[in-house]
Amino acid sequence: MTRWFAPGRINLIGEHTDYNDGFVLPFALEVGCTATVSPGSDGWSVRSVQEPEPVVVRRSGLADADEVAEWSRYVLGALWLLTDRGTDVPPLEVVVDSDVPTGAGLSSSAALVCSVVRALDDHLGLGLDDDAIFALTRDVENDAVGAPTGGMDQLVSLRGRAGHVLLCDMRSHETRPVPLDLAGSGLVVLVADTRAPHRHSDGEYGARRRGCEEAARQLGVPALRHVTEADLDAALARLDDDELRRYVRHVVTEDARVLDVARLLDAGRLPEIGPALTASHRSMRDDFRITVPEVDTAVDALLGAGALGARMTGGGFGGCVIALVPERDEAAAGDAVRRAFADAGFGEPALFTAAPQDGARVVGLPG
Ligand code: GLA
Repeated sequence: MTRWFAPGRINLIGEHTDYNDGFVLPFALEVGCTATVSPGSDGWSVRSVQEPEPVVVRRSGLADADEVAEWSRYVLGALWLLTDRGTDVPPLEVVVDSDVPTGAGLSSSAALVCSVVRALDDHLGLGLDDDAIFALTRDVENDAVGAPTGGMDQLVSLRGRAGHVLLCDMRSHETRPVPLDLAGSGLVVLVADTRAPHRHSDGEYGARRRGCEEAARQLGVPALRHVTEADLDAALARLDDDELRRYVRHVVTEDARVLDVARLLDAGRLPEIGPALTASHRSMRDDFRITVPEVDTAVDALLGAGALGARMTGGGFGGCVIALVPERDEAAAGDAVRRAFADAGFGEPALFTAAPQDGARVVGLPG
């Protein structure tokens, strides 16, 4: 029997840059998913502590993805892909148990798939290296589940480091921990889960990704990562479509903000990153157009209550807002969000603080 834990994530900055081969700066959370793999008797049996029904399949394949509950595809997808690629996977029992809220944009799916892939590699003695583990977790989400995501979530769930954000180059998948010394600066990352329902989020995410790929094609570059801030005006002048121009402006300026923030953190200047966070939010709101009234309201309330910077985190269309807040202002900032939500007639938000934790790790078995 083998047991692994993998965390959810918050992205400090760098949104919709990952599938453009760009840069992101996420960190791993305390909440996550634990996957336990043990020998089975007949076929593959998958159970989630959070779901009423287990899923049992007789060693089926990728073509059967539509037949099983969506959550189980993150587990079965790994088994299907391993089998497709030549591993003889024996009968297994997989049990998963997660405390990452779903639908909040904290990557419950990365926690699930990363804990499962790590536990399978360990249990079956596959000996996959870090790059192969990451590639498999991303393939499960893209090919077995069918979500066209960019890989940031899995990378940080696997490689996150306590006390650090992870600077990820999403072209090479090289990663480097960068210190985020919150306590040393008297700051907290305050998270406001707006609980706004994700409206059309799946279709809109894919549409943004296709738009970015089309813009790169028109500009003659492999991905928007290759357009620098210095080239931006010239690139924009070459595009006819206003929507594509806005997408390009967001991605190019966002990549530059990620690198700016990483530089400030490396230099021990954490309190100075606030304006970049807020600029990132404005760019998502005005150029990439992936925010909703609840997240804009939360950002404005947090900034009005003394936050040094605030932005939506994750794919968009709802989910969580993060703010860099002086410790002494934490309670007032939370109250300001609750008041603004009540005034606007929105549902009650959830507020909590988050600090970077380690990525995926083995968990001791009882006894
Ligand atoms: C989701 C995806 C990521 C990334 C973000 C936006 O979380 O899973 O790959 O694209 O959205 O930055």
